Amino acid sequence: HFMDEFHHDAHPMGILLSTVGALSTFYPNAPNVADPVNRRLQMVRLIAKMPTLTAFAYRHRMGMPYSYPDNNLSYTGNLLSMMFKMAEPKYEVNPVLEKALNLLFILHADHEQNCSTSAMRSVGSSRTDPYSAAAAAIGALYGPLHGGANEAVLRMLRNIGSPDRIPHLIERVKAGEARLMGFGHRVYKNYDPRARIIKEMANKVFEVTGRNPLLELALELEAIALEDEYFVERKLYPNVDFYSGLIYQSMGFPVDMFPVLFALGRTVGWLAQWEEMVLDSEQKIARPRQIYTGHDLRHLE
Ligand SMILES: CC(C)(COP(=O)(O)OP(=O)(O)OC[C@H]1O[C@@H](n2cnc3c(N)ncnc32)[C@H](O)[C@@H]1OP(=O)(O)O)[C@@H](O)C(=O)NCCC(=O)NCCS
Repeated sequence: HFMDEFHHDAHPMGILLSTVGALSTFYPNAPNVADPVNRRLQMVRLIAKMPTLTAFAYRHRMGMPYSYPDNNLSYTGNLLSMMFKMAEPKYEVNPVLEKALNLLFILHADHEQNCSTSAMRSVGSSRTDPYSAAAAAIGALYGPLHGGANEAVLRMLRNIGSPDRIPHLIERVKAGEARLMGFGHRVYKNYDPRARIIKEMANKVFEVTGRNPLLELALELEAIALEDEYFVERKLYPNVDFYSGLIYQSMGFPVDMFPVLFALGRTVGWLAQWEEMVLDSEQKIARPRQIYTGHDLRHLE
C-alpha cells in the first residue's frame, strides 16, 4: 500500500529507492547478516522483489492497476508481464524480448568498484541489513553521471534529429563544447566488449519491435566517429550505454525507467559484492580518513 502514497509523477527511481529501503521494516531478521541461512534468504528475497517493485513503480506512475507476479514465467518474462499485462488472462512473453532483457541484466550485473557498488560496500560495512545498503546503492545509481548515460544518449540522438546534422555535433565535440554520449570509458580504452554484444541483440529486438528511428542515426554517428582521428587517437569507442537505451525504448520502457532497469540488473552484483565483504574476516567498517587543510589556529573575537 505504501506504493500508492507516492505522488503520481514521482520518479520511478525515487520510488524504487524508498521501497527497497522500506523492505527492511518488513523483515525484522534482516540485520542478522552473520547467519548464513538468514543472509541467503534476504538476498534471494531482494533479488525476487526487484522486478515487482520495478513494475509497480512504473504502473503507479502510469496510473495503471498493478499486475501481480506469475510464478510460471522466467525472471525477465515475469517482469515483462508485470509491466505490460493489460486485461488478457495470461501475458504472452515474447522470447526475443525476454532473452534481450536477460542479456542486458547479465551485462549490467557487476562492474567492480563503480560508484553504487562502493556505496553498497561502504554502507554495508556497518553491518546494516542488505535492503538499507541496497537503497544507498540505488541512490548512487540515481545520479546522471552513473545510471543516466543511456538516457543521455537518447536525448543526444533526439537533439541531432537527422543525419545531416551529425558533422555539426562532431565539430562541437572536437571543439570541447560537447561530449559524445555513449562513447568512451574510464577503464575500457579499446571497444567496450559489452557494446558489441548489445549491438547484435539490438538488431534481433528491432526485428520484433520494428526499427527504432533513432537507430539509423546511432549507426551513422558510430561509423563517422570510428573513422575520425579525434576519436581514434583518444581511443573513444561506443560503450555499453550507446545501444542499451535504444533497446529499452523500442521495448516500450519510458526513459525514466532506464536507471530502474539498471538497478534491477545490478542488484545481483551489489549483493555478491556485499556478501563477499561480510564474509571477509579482515573487514572493518569503512572509514576514509581526511586531510585537514584549514587554519591551524583561529581566535574568536
Ligand atoms: C566515460 C568517461 C567519463 C570516461 O572518461 P575518462 O576515461 O576520464 O576520459 P577523459 O575524460 O580522461 O578523456 C580523455 C580525452 O578524451 C576526450 N573524451 C572522452 N570521452 C569523450 C566523449 N564521450 N566525447 C568526446 N570526447 C571525449 C576528453 O575530452 C579527453 O580529451 P583531451 O585529452 O583532448 O582533453 C567519458 O568518456 C565520458 O564522459 N563519456 C560520455 C558519457 C558516457 O557515455 N558515460 C557512460 C560510461 S559507461
